[in-house]
Amino acid sequence: MTKVSRRGLLLGGAVGAGAAAAGIAAGRSLVDGPEPPPEPVTVEAFHGPRQAGIATEPQAHGVFCALDLREGTDRDATARLMRLLSDDAARLTRGTAALADTEPELATSPARLTVTFGFGPGLYAAAGLASPVAALPGFAVDRLEARWSGGDLLVQICGDDALTVAHAQRMLVKDARAFASVRWTQRGFRAASGTKGTQRNILGQLDGTGNPAAGTSAFDTAVWRPDGSTTLVVRRIRAELDDWAAVDRTVREMSVGRRLDTGAPLTGLAEHDEPDFAARDELGIPVIHPSSHVRLARVGADDKRILRRPYNYDEGPSAEGKPDTGLIFASYQADVERQFTPIQRALSDADLLNKWVTPIGSAVFAVPPGCGEGGWVGEGVLG
Ligand code: HEM
Repeated sequence: MTKVSRRGLLLGGAVGAGAAAAGIAAGRSLVDGPEPPPEPVTVEAFHGPRQAGIATEPQAHGVFCALDLREGTDRDATARLMRLLSDDAARLTRGTAALADTEPELATSPARLTVTFGFGPGLYAAAGLASPVAALPGFAVDRLEARWSGGDLLVQICGDDALTVAHAQRMLVKDARAFASVRWTQRGFRAASGTKGTQRNILGQLDGTGNPAAGTSAFDTAVWRPDGSTTLVVRRIRAELDDWAAVDRTVREMSVGRRLDTGAPLTGLAEHDEPDFAARDELGIPVIHPSSHVRLARVGADDKRILRRPYNYDEGPSAEGKPDTGLIFASYQADVERQFTPIQRALSDADLLNKWVTPIGSAVFAVPPGCGEGGWVGEGVLG
């Protein structure tokens, strides 16, 4: 279709009434020229057999908020809480205000908002139920702080608009207040929505290459249980960025086993080339170090893999200008003990990257299946 200037139209230019009518009938303005690209998706469905915010293409902003149930919040009270929070989440994610929303205008731009709930071992104990997840064992690398660890109920809120995410968090926490107190909140960010290719983390590495791809059977095997549930491990991992910057690129690349620029394995050329762990250089030295992060984290079978969906954190420099940054490492897997724990153990024992990264927080949650319209998350557990 020919582009017509607004001026041309106003002056009764070359386009006849018939063509104009056809353009209008097609739902397009003649002044705008060619058909615009489709509107970007801004609503991620809350309802469904599996909770959103897991297979969802990661949004730019994420908040992880862990709550502790108040004394006396039993199974029925927790069920009431989950009904309330599920209702809030359903409304907010579709771009409508929560009940008694004091700033309803802040709900109108959902920007792919997702709200994902996880149940910690303490929630099951309070409800008198056996927990499908146990606290993680200790790892030698851990320097865990109570202020970033544990929690009965996790609310993961992700979206492409930081204001929408902040508003959703406020609404959800406000409604949870009678039942639970806030144990910790971790706020993070990733590449802006729409950025092409694998995102980079705050250490400058391409992060996500080895993930199973959503929509594949590898992904489904790694992440979902048959009932649509999964588990979530959240680890706050501090990164010593000044020390990391002080070593040269060769050492940084050796510690991971991949190149910083392209993300290619040290034995390959392109990001998605398969690493060749058997390859040796002319001196007989392995090209990919046996203690590199990628070598140790690589597991074969799909039911041993994990989905990493991390966010970066940056709490701003100290008065001395020292960074306080790292990853809010979040991984989803069908079974923590079968999948996450062996990888973390291997990394804890030998990972070259440990020189620069330290886990300072840790929490584990069962993620119940999603719910249908009018249902609530956890109905199969607490109902
Ligand atoms: C701050 C801490 C960490 C950083 C900076 C980091 C960084 C990376 C990087 C750059 C890669 C290569 C690219 C990719 O596949 O995404 C990678 C791969 C991977 N990481 Fe990490 N990682 C961290 C912590 C962890 C932890 C705690 C685990 C699990 C316990 C983990 C598990 C994995 C796995 C499974 C892979 C893919 C390995 C494969 O290719 O099969 N990472 N990580």
